[in-house]
Amino acid sequence: MTSSPLLERLSARLGPKGFTADPVAIAPWAEDWRGRWKGAAAALLSPASTEEVADVVRLCAEARVPLVPQGGNTSMAAGATPDASGDAMILSLRRMNRIRALDADTDSAVCEAGVILADLHTATAEVGRRFPLTLGAKGSATIGGLASTNAGGTQVLRFGTMRTLIQGIEAVLPDGSVWNGLTALKKDNRGYDLKHLLVGGEGTLGVITAANLRLVPAVGARSVAWIGLDTPDAALDLLRMLEAAMGDAVESFELVPRVALDLVLAHVPGTRAPLAEPHAWNVLIEAVSPMAAPSPEKALYEALHSALGTGLAADAVIAANERQAENFWRLRDSISEAEKQAGPAAKHDISVEVAAMPRFMREGSAAVESAFPGTRVIAFGHLGDGNVHFNVGAPLGAGPEWQESEGTRVTSYAHDLVVAAGGSISAEHGIGQMRLAELARLTDPARLAAQRAIKAALDPHGIMNPGKLVPPAPAPGAGS
Ligand code: FAD
Ligand code: MLT
Ligand code: ZN
Repeated sequence: MTSSPLLERLSARLGPKGFTADPVAIAPWAEDWRGRWKGAAAALLSPASTEEVADVVRLCAEARVPLVPQGGNTSMAAGATPDASGDAMILSLRRMNRIRALDADTDSAVCEAGVILADLHTATAEVGRRFPLTLGAKGSATIGGLASTNAGGTQVLRFGTMRTLIQGIEAVLPDGSVWNGLTALKKDNRGYDLKHLLVGGEGTLGVITAANLRLVPAVGARSVAWIGLDTPDAALDLLRMLEAAMGDAVESFELVPRVALDLVLAHVPGTRAPLAEPHAWNVLIEAVSPMAAPSPEKALYEALHSALGTGLAADAVIAANERQAENFWRLRDSISEAEKQAGPAAKHDISVEVAAMPRFMREGSAAVESAFPGTRVIAFGHLGDGNVHFNVGAPLGAGPEWQESEGTRVTSYAHDLVVAAGGSISAEHGIGQMRLAELARLTDPARLAAQRAIKAALDPHGIMNPGKLVPPAPAPGAGS
């Protein structure tokens, strides 16, 4: 149980804007985005500065009270959700939402952890630059959460994940000490890279309070197209052909199966299909030029014309204006929301080598649907990164209990296929609590042991986001 003297100290340090123990105020932040994991917390702590974060962590470390760092609470792995005991406190970074510096000359932005991604996009556009990472949750996801999950999204093809865009980090470590590693050093070989441990660390090794981010030139012109085609193999061939024709102008290449598009059209008001006829598979392409002219449209048009001529693509439309381009993106970005409304599904975030993905999708889908009659694979997403969300919809009429019963078996089955294909069971969403047991089951013991050793060294009392990312060590004598 959390001691009340601690609550009093925290309340005194953070003031009314930064502290609440009111269960009603805490409740929305104690469950995950999908509403599947419901936890409880003794308090919601919302510090407004790095110094306040440091004091909170130090006080909680002394009292051995666990902290669950939280940004926008959009985790797809229930990483920011406390357990149901109510012992932990949620440490929200949302009040730390200042952009401390924005420098177009050095192409860098220093953002506090609570800066919302869409706000950073707006601010960088105002100085003729952009932060080249985006995803469907951009209106809520924060820089701290994106960094802590090493988030991906729909521009990884061209710019990489968060890890490649982070130049420096400021963090509070589990004993309350502050590490200032914000300077954007291009070269730094002083040994283990703490920055890269914290990125993707899911709040288990410390609290990221600010990040120095790399910017790139703003979009001068963009061309967005929606393509209908027959198979993921054809889609990957199309990507290779576009890359040969247009180089790295192709920034996004997102695969959308007909089932996913149908779900969006059925559940998201105001959406309509871009092509007259339905196709088994669709691809959303965005090509970008940093200059207003020449626009990438001509090159994209010619490449698609050729793909239609050879039969690689079955149909295609290039957005005629920004509104239509945004409508295409809305279809893509609404898939998760539509799936949420459609009913239970076993959600997977998997990667294999890029060239192996079409075969994995073909054979993996057939295997899952035959092993679990009535289920339906809905695999969509970042084909060019070798990462799809290989989700498996429950049979018609299944209730929410399906998730915990047969859904768990479906997940193990699908993950076994991924491991057999040499892939990863978490490409971009992280482990959180959702994939913890699967990580323990399927990870090389040497890697797990190293992960536990790092955690124990930096967080000896286990106060930082317990129950996430790092599976507990097996009981003595239980084997690895
Ligand atoms: P939270 O959900 O609050 O936290 C995520 C994790 O980071 C937790 O473990 C938390 O403890 C930790 N954390 C948060 N802030 C800090 C901090 N300051 N210091 C230390 N630890 C911290 N993800 C992708 O990678 N690609 C996608 O395409 C994508 N699309 C999405 C679409 C939708 C509609 C939704 C709802 C989610 C999507 N996500 C995607 C998942 C999610 O948006 C990302 O994981 C995002 O990085 C989470 O940011 P957040 O601020 O909401 O973090
Ligand atoms: C996406 O690419 O849309 C996501 O990462 C979200 C999801 O997996 O549902
Ligand atoms: Zn994704």
